[in-house]
Amino acid sequence: MAQQEDIFKKVVSHCKEYGFVFPSSEIYDGLGAVYDYGQNGVELKNNIKQYWWQYMVLLHENIVGLDSAIFMHPTIWKASGHVDAFNDPLIDNRDSKKRYRADVLIEDQIAKYDEKIEKEVAKARKRFGDSFDEAQYRATSPRVLEEQTKRDALHQRYQEVMNAEGGIDLDGMKQIILDEGIVCPISGTRNWTDVRQFNLMFKTEMGAAAEGSSTIYLRPETAQGIFVNYLNVQKTGRMKVPFGIAQIGKAFRNEIVARQFIFRMREFEQMEMQFFVKPGTELQWFDEWKKRRMAWHQALGFGAENYRFHDHDKLAHYANAATDIEFKMPFGFKEVEGIHSRTNFDLSQHAKYSGKKIEYFDPEDNTSYTPYVIETSIGVDRMFLSIMCHSYCEEQLEDGQTRTVLRLPAALAPVKLAVFPLTKKDGLPEKAHEIINDLKFHFNCKYEEKDQIGKRYRRQDAIGTPFCVTVDNQTLEDNTVTLRYRDSMKQERVNISDLRSIIEDQVTISSLLKNLK
Ligand code: GAP
Repeated sequence: MAQQEDIFKKVVSHCKEYGFVFPSSEIYDGLGAVYDYGQNGVELKNNIKQYWWQYMVLLHENIVGLDSAIFMHPTIWKASGHVDAFNDPLIDNRDSKKRYRADVLIEDQIAKYDEKIEKEVAKARKRFGDSFDEAQYRATSPRVLEEQTKRDALHQRYQEVMNAEGGIDLDGMKQIILDEGIVCPISGTRNWTDVRQFNLMFKTEMGAAAEGSSTIYLRPETAQGIFVNYLNVQKTGRMKVPFGIAQIGKAFRNEIVARQFIFRMREFEQMEMQFFVKPGTELQWFDEWKKRRMAWHQALGFGAENYRFHDHDKLAHYANAATDIEFKMPFGFKEVEGIHSRTNFDLSQHAKYSGKKIEYFDPEDNTSYTPYVIETSIGVDRMFLSIMCHSYCEEQLEDGQTRTVLRLPAALAPVKLAVFPLTKKDGLPEKAHEIINDLKFHFNCKYEEKDQIGKRYRRQDAIGTPFCVTVDNQTLEDNTVTLRYRDSMKQERVNISDLRSIIEDQVTISSLLKNLK
């Protein structure tokens, strides 16, 4: 585990050092849980978005795109339930003045019991060696049993307060924190306030105060922009159910506990699709979208063992099925995408609050109904993080040296081809530029002339560039270059005129999409 945490730290600093992700407003000491994407990060991020958009919108005849505004009528958030229920339970420590999520404090306490149990088991494994019977030890060791009993009792109490009738039992949460003797990590005291609900939406004012300004919210999900445009798109696009509307855009949440780099941010980007279906068919479509979305993830070639579904036991009151696609990050399996069967809740709520009829007339059986919705919702930044973590690799080479290489799928790499003149003279830079000027219309190329070739290769390995070519004096004679492959580090002499056909096929988004046929 320690080794995995180490890798995560390395990925974070690699992101900064190589222009992928910077802390926002860094020269002013940063802004909590807000990040900027640098020159390489923005390319990778755009490629992820392209991969999603082309799969969802271009490969599905019955899905169309949308780009709705971030600012929306405030009643939308009342109708969707976000004003009343998009809350986290928080608690303050009076001595340190630090604020925590009460549920996270309790979950961390449960994790501490788990850790103690695992430590006991590890110690015993070491002591007994090959003859160790782990199942028997867990079932009989008094120390393990004691910790397990405490852990299970806490877990049970936690479930009860979270699922209390009429919403989370806030007093019950505080009582657990007191009974467990949970202390503030900063002050070390138990001087806690009551637990209160804290709404995660950011607010701002629209219009000058004198004219009567109104409070509006920065959207916490892009989905509502799709729901309120359902009628517009269905009518103008003459869409027939089942059909989908897809959108990529920023979302904002005032997360109380923001940690793990870009995993939980206050400003982030979502790629969401709402698929409108006939009532009664939604669970079939839910299963279908689970399959399709998992196939999309796995087409990146990171190995099926790194993904799993986490089906939700506890459903939101408007959902009749929900699952997460989790990816194995260095800090464990974590949610990257959510797939939800949201019934007709959102469309019905908007019909109620707006007073407009939001229905679909089905010409096949002459009926009108409010469509049910299957939603697929994935965070661009989490996808970015999962790709960086999986691709980051420190390799021991045969000559004893090490290299850091980002084994990104070539189609997602920020730069596809780097072109190096061997020296800065004899017309080699001009020849290198000539190659770039020809190929830059087809994929992203980069010119590099600083340092020795070996160093230039290492710099490109570190940003995941799949191909490098070197222009030398022989190039001027016979129009051939040395082509070097990132992963194998193999080199071969090829004609300049063949470069496009060798490279293009492997670096386009369609090369990834072909895996999905
Ligand atoms: N419309 C449904 C919805 O927003 P969600 O599970 O709250 O569902 C969907 O969010 C996805 O958005 C998550 O799976 C995650 O990838 C991403 N996401 C949510 N909150 C995030 C945050 N604070 N920072 C980064 N990504 C986030």
